[in-house]
Amino acid sequence: VMSRIKEAKKSAAYLAVDKHVKSGDLVGIGSGSTVIFAVERLAARVKKEKLDIKCVPTSFQARDLVIQNKLTLTNLEVCPELDVCIDGADEVDENLDLIKGGGGCLLQEKIVASCSKKLVIVADYTKDSKRLGDQYKKGIPIEVAPMAYVPIKNRIEKIYGGNAELRMAVAKAGPVVTDNGNFILDWREYKQDSDWGKINTELVLIPGVVETGLFVKMAEVAYFGMEDGSV
Ligand code: A5P
Repeated sequence: VMSRIKEAKKSAAYLAVDKHVKSGDLVGIGSGSTVIFAVERLAARVKKEKLDIKCVPTSFQARDLVIQNKLTLTNLEVCPELDVCIDGADEVDENLDLIKGGGGCLLQEKIVASCSKKLVIVADYTKDSKRLGDQYKKGIPIEVAPMAYVPIKNRIEKIYGGNAELRMAVAKAGPVVTDNGNFILDWREYKQDSDWGKINTELVLIPGVVETGLFVKMAEVAYFGMEDGSV
């Protein structure tokens, strides 16, 4: 039997795909465990309705999902403007501002989302929060150039406080290396009433910061699968 959270992810993903993807669309494919269900639904619709879509993945995982599900793969060189991007999130607040990058795929996710007419978020009920930081205790992921992780860490801790910790790999001795060959700092103990747009801009201006997991004013809509099965 599928867990309640998994069911919630699935219901949200299926509904979002049915509402926002139509034949002829160029679709950004996000990363994470919820997007698996979105791709599953897309594949079913391609079979059933002959839905004609092309997909731009946001990670190694998304690319593999597209290939395994026999969807048509493309990229931003061939298709620089997408109709819709479907992605998960680690946390979504009242204003639809997001924290992403729990899976380390934030850079390509933000690029693909920024090339899409709309960003549609699919998530389970645990991701829904009033203000960023209310739910997600893992911090804000920040992708950085490997050679600069120590000065960037020190700078962030000095300016804003908290801890910016190098994300370590699980099945390897050493840091997580992203799909783009960078490291990730997980910045914890940030203040909940922060101006995320301003902080994001400031962080991105630090030399060596490649991208942040703060997705401010990017999402158009979020679908939450709830505990009772509703979306
Ligand atoms: C990947 O880096 C993240 O941004 C994911 O989109 C996010 O972690 C959501 O993943 P789940 O759907 O597995 O919660």
